[in-house]
Amino acid sequence: MEFIDLTPMRKAAGTVRLPGSKSISNRVLLLAALADGDTLVEALLESDDTRVMKNAIVALGVKVTEEGDALRISGCGGRFPQLVADIFVGNSGLSIRTLVPAIVASLSGCGDPAAKVRLSGVPRMHERPIGDLVDGLKQLGASVEWLGQEGYPPLALKPALLGAERVSVRGSVSSQFLTGLLQAAPLVARDKALVIDVEGELISRPYVEITLNLMERFGVVVQREGWSRFIVQPGQRYVSPGRIVVEGDASTASYFLAAGALGGGPVRVVGAGRRSIQGDVKFADALATMGAQISWGDDWIEARAPASGKLKAFDLDLNHIPDAAMTLAVAALFADAPSILRNIGSWRVKETDRIAAMATELRKLGAVVEEFPESIKVTPPARLNSAVIDTYEDHRVAMCFSLVTLGGPYVRINDPQCVNKTFPEYFATFAGITTPVPVVAIDGPSASGKGTVAARAAAVLGFGYLDSGSLYRLVALAGSRQGIALDDEARLAALAAALPARFDDERIFLGEDDVTDAIRSEECSVGASRVAVLPAVREALFWRQRAYRQGCGLVAEGRDMGSVIFPDTPVKIFLTASVDARAERRYKQLIDKGMAANIDDLLKDLRDRDARDSQRAVAPLKQREDAALLDTSGMTIQQAVDFVIRRAAAFAK
Ligand code: DC
Repeated sequence: MEFIDLTPMRKAAGTVRLPGSKSISNRVLLLAALADGDTLVEALLESDDTRVMKNAIVALGVKVTEEGDALRISGCGGRFPQLVADIFVGNSGLSIRTLVPAIVASLSGCGDPAAKVRLSGVPRMHERPIGDLVDGLKQLGASVEWLGQEGYPPLALKPALLGAERVSVRGSVSSQFLTGLLQAAPLVARDKALVIDVEGELISRPYVEITLNLMERFGVVVQREGWSRFIVQPGQRYVSPGRIVVEGDASTASYFLAAGALGGGPVRVVGAGRRSIQGDVKFADALATMGAQISWGDDWIEARAPASGKLKAFDLDLNHIPDAAMTLAVAALFADAPSILRNIGSWRVKETDRIAAMATELRKLGAVVEEFPESIKVTPPARLNSAVIDTYEDHRVAMCFSLVTLGGPYVRINDPQCVNKTFPEYFATFAGITTPVPVVAIDGPSASGKGTVAARAAAVLGFGYLDSGSLYRLVALAGSRQGIALDDEARLAALAAALPARFDDERIFLGEDDVTDAIRSEECSVGASRVAVLPAVREALFWRQRAYRQGCGLVAEGRDMGSVIFPDTPVKIFLTASVDARAERRYKQLIDKGMAANIDDLLKDLRDRDARDSQRAVAPLKQREDAALLDTSGMTIQQAVDFVIRRAAAFAK
């Protein structure tokens, strides 16, 4: 799939059972693999990143078996048995940064000079730094060979006896380096304690807390002095806790909680709550500072929009929740003033340079974004533009930008399957808690009465009303007023793109000029039908028409509402009447207005226009298979309106 088109959403509400936490799943896979005994792992996340880790431990000789929905991991007791291996880590930073130290520890004293483990990933992985971690391992005596660029994967690990008792590692690039060293520490600290010193500021601390917490579940206790020194006493081994249930993913929860805050709510996520060991649950606090109403349970969190209805701007240090912070950058689009996201420099070395990526994509929606080395400032636009979002092979970019639809626009997400990294079912789950802005699409031939029926149905439903034909009529009128030939596609398309059309109650304006009656003339009808065959004109009016889908809903009428402009709507009606009935209605209308009319001329005109509308190459008028037929030849207007209302009600969620 190249892209997924997401429609404007009216609200978000519901309950989501979270997929397993990626951070916990990947740590548990490795710790269980290194432990003494079998571990039954339940509710493990199934995704690209966890598959990377699972395949890696299998390649390193650990037995993994499926037991129903759970995985049984038969731990190797501290040293991987298979040390000639070629491991592909995809784009999983956590996997490579925790596997490397564990493999280095296994290679130490393995006694096989031919042992060699190679690790490589996707091209982006080969741009993600690992030099600080390898420097630390080299202090211990590790033998590491760079296979590409120094400091980056791919790399090869060879046997070397680890000796030192002290290692220092930089904490400011990625906390995963420290996590990797900590998890391997008990394998290294066999006779003497291992001391790990963190140089500089340690970022993303809550992730290190997850590491310490899980190590403890596997029986290893780490002493720490603040966040700068960690000591692992000798003689500790990982021992399986027997069974472990993985919590729901708190980073993934951020999208749904934000949906509740931006789209009314309540949205409840189940699987992570007050008792979670994941730092990203603090995202809910950030939403609360924006005014969202948050409630907590032991293993759930619920979010709804502020009582005032309007989200407040924020200025927050988000170093502790770098992943969920991306969701906040999108939430900032809904705030009442500019927001600042601080201390997020680690975004630069993630799946992509997330500061640059987020800034670029937020701008497409109309936001003004100022980028700094370690922060960004987001000024929301008065109205969000529809946009095509690029995702940079970054699952989180794809997921967080889906939320924009709650603010009205259409959003196309390119390369949507990048969400497979952590949540393959993301878009289906998002669709499950959101309600699109409803559209009743009514297509049909000229003078079938669809305008009258659509306008009345819109009033009854409390929806907006789009008379798309009037846009083509306006192009024809403006074109002939400016002396543009009605087959001059390029000039007419430019005109259509910048058409100063305004719909004010029942009146239609071109600039300041009230043209309500002028566009209904027979000359304009014929002109509209001519300009409507031009693909560039139709293209120019495409987004303009889609933009009417807002608020409570829309009744849109024309020739291609169901087929081209709003193909996703389930409420499609093909409204027609016999050509005689239509000619007669038109005749009565003209006579009532005191205009001259001739029934034979009207018949011929209608037949000609029908032919042009249905035979043209682009968006020809025809009844779609999924549209309900409404033949109004023998009906009153009220009967036709009732039909439309019944259809709309049948599909209301
Ligand atoms: O519905 P109407 O008669 O006002 O439409 C005027 C012309 O515009 C008609 O010839 C068909 C064309 N049209 C179109 O091609 N696509 C639409 N969605 C609406 C109108």
